[in-house]
Amino acid sequence: MRTMSTATHPIAEPAASSTEPVVVFSHVSIGFDGKPVLKDISFELRHGETRILLGPAGVGKSVLLKLTNGLLMPDAGCITVFGKDLCHMKERDLFALRGEIGTVFQEGALFDSMNVRDNVAFRLIEEHLPDEEIDRRVEEALRFVELEHTMKKLPSELSGGMRRRVAIARAIVTEPKLLLYDSPTGGLDPITSTTIIELVIKQRDASQTSSLVVTHRLQDAFMMATHRYDSDCKCIKALPKGETDPNTSFLVLHEGQLVFDGTTEELVRSDDPFLRDYLR
Ligand SMILES: Nc1ncnc2c1ncn2[C@@H]1O[C@H](COP(=O)(O)OP(=O)(O)OP(=O)(O)O)[C@@H](O)[C@H]1O
Ligand SMILES: [Mg+2]
Repeated sequence: MRTMSTATHPIAEPAASSTEPVVVFSHVSIGFDGKPVLKDISFELRHGETRILLGPAGVGKSVLLKLTNGLLMPDAGCITVFGKDLCHMKERDLFALRGEIGTVFQEGALFDSMNVRDNVAFRLIEEHLPDEEIDRRVEEALRFVELEHTMKKLPSELSGGMRRRVAIARAIVTEPKLLLYDSPTGGLDPITSTTIIELVIKQRDASQTSSLVVTHRLQDAFMMATHRYDSDCKCIKALPKGETDPNTSFLVLHEGQLVFDGTTEELVRSDDPFLRDYLR
């Protein structure tokens, strides 16, 4: 197990491509109104890896994602994304960097007054891409989440699961190399949650995007660790019994600290009392 005390490094057997660090947190701390939230957090996300971030409500999972895309700045420590030091970047460069990161915000955060097409197209319109290119990309992203028929609808006309799928389409439409998912299944029923996690797995395996995935649902986390997208049948398949995805590993936050950083097997076998209780 990678813990803060041992501070050793990646455990998951890496794929050939999983070498360059895409995100590096180095001794990062942040607090609000004098109250510490994250304390001395260090971890890496490498190219092609998916790191699942678990932890109790209010522990700082969303804060960690907002630090990753530069929406928040740490009080101490350093964060690099794509090799660039976020903490010493000008706002203009941060804005450009955010354009290279796809974020699925907690609760989806769609623009209520815009239809699905314009929600998904938002970033492409900001980048002044030609209309035909925007339409092509939006259609492709909506086809990926199987919602190409909803272009003209407003978010209020969609179910909660469909809104979350639109949020995923919006995040992937720019073909980002890094995706941040903040509780993509939060508030959804178990069946809809499974369809969302299948999309996250499909994106992981079809595009080898690096991603940080926050989830409250352990079953989602373990589904991601034990399933893969099969491009032949275009479906999600369980890995053979006992096998886990080598590029998917776990981070667990507890009381502001990273108490676990390691593989699925290590998490399941851990005898740490907090983890045992949390995973029960
Ligand atoms: N901009 C902010 N200003 C002040 N406090 C904040 C801010 N953002 C987060 N916090 C505080 O930081 C702590 C962690 O919040 P965060 O939203 O990251 O929790 P979380 O782990 O994502 O919780 P949940 O599982 O409920 O989504 C909370 O106490 C929250 O009130
Ligand atoms: Mg949160």
